[in-house]
Amino acid sequence: MTERLDASAAGIARAADLLRAGRLVAFGTETVYGLGADATDDAAVARIFAAKERPRFNPLISHFADAEAAFREGVPTDLARRLAERFWPGPLTLVLPRQPGGTVSDLAAAGLPSVAVRVPRGTVATQLLRAVGRPVAAPSANLSGKVSPSDAYHVLRGLQGRIDAVLDSGPCPVGVESTVLDLTGTSPVLLRPGGITVEALEEVCGPISHPDDYAHTLPTSPGQLASHYAPGLPVRLDAQDVAPDEALLAFGPEIPGAGLVWNLSPEGRLDEAAARLFAGLRFLDSEGARRGLSRIAAMPIPRVGLGRAIRDRLRRAASPRPI
Ligand code: TXA
Ligand code: MG
Repeated sequence: MTERLDASAAGIARAADLLRAGRLVAFGTETVYGLGADATDDAAVARIFAAKERPRFNPLISHFADAEAAFREGVPTDLARRLAERFWPGPLTLVLPRQPGGTVSDLAAAGLPSVAVRVPRGTVATQLLRAVGRPVAAPSANLSGKVSPSDAYHVLRGLQGRIDAVLDSGPCPVGVESTVLDLTGTSPVLLRPGGITVEALEEVCGPISHPDDYAHTLPTSPGQLASHYAPGLPVRLDAQDVAPDEALLAFGPEIPGAGLVWNLSPEGRLDEAAARLFAGLRFLDSEGARRGLSRIAAMPIPRVGLGRAIRDRLRRAASPRPI
């Protein structure tokens, strides 16, 4: 049975107790719902992989209530401190060398000498993390290979009965996962575009390398399966036209002629589009399949700001499925 907890003080306290007892609790962050477990407990972390049916032990992001707690697990550079000052709490994950006295389990860190740390924004998430008082590992709360959940209902659709509880804090305002930035080398490397834009990072870091085209298909970060965000219907990118047997993922004014439409943002706003992306993929996938449509056609998304993260998730959705 999966308990549904509301975002009251009692609900948060119950969620924290479950996490401290090694159980699995999905909770909302500003990006997507995470499937949380005590990151210091190998057995709890193993339950994440089992519940998600994830075939491999990818390194997971550890979540904290504040930067001080995060830097007890990852060694901060000067740049890490400046980024934290500017963007935390918020959708930025930093990959840092592990602290010698750190408590994150080897399974959560996948045995790497580095650890991914993040301080999410959102009063419920922050209260939960503060109450747990330990690092909380949390990949997106979906079955492996499925679209990430942006509300508690999506979580239950995939994981009902497989996890101990879901703490419902409503829909996620950002809608795409955090930006992952590797600070372990001589210069910062963008491992995953996400909720903090490259342009905003560069104001603090200077230029950073960021492969961000649909042509780029090699995983750059451990555990980045190309087809991570996969709907069931095939996805066609940068569609300039659309057929009646296609479901259109529109951005801005719609191309006419589709069998079904979800408009990410009629006004062409990237923040609105990011927040509506995963819900749109789910809708077009299930409703499109029900109507016998043959694929999803996605209109072009500009390669700027949050558009990079949206393009990255669409590229993954369109990648060939692993066998
Ligand atoms: O928005 C988010 O970040 C969501 C919400 C729930 O917080 N969480 C999330 O977590 O996406 P997860 O664990 O699925 O993200 C893992 C990403 C992968 O791209 C992984 O390869 C990278 O972080 N990562 C984790 N540890 C790493 C490490 N030590 N070195 C390089 N990449 C790492
Ligand atoms: Mg995910």
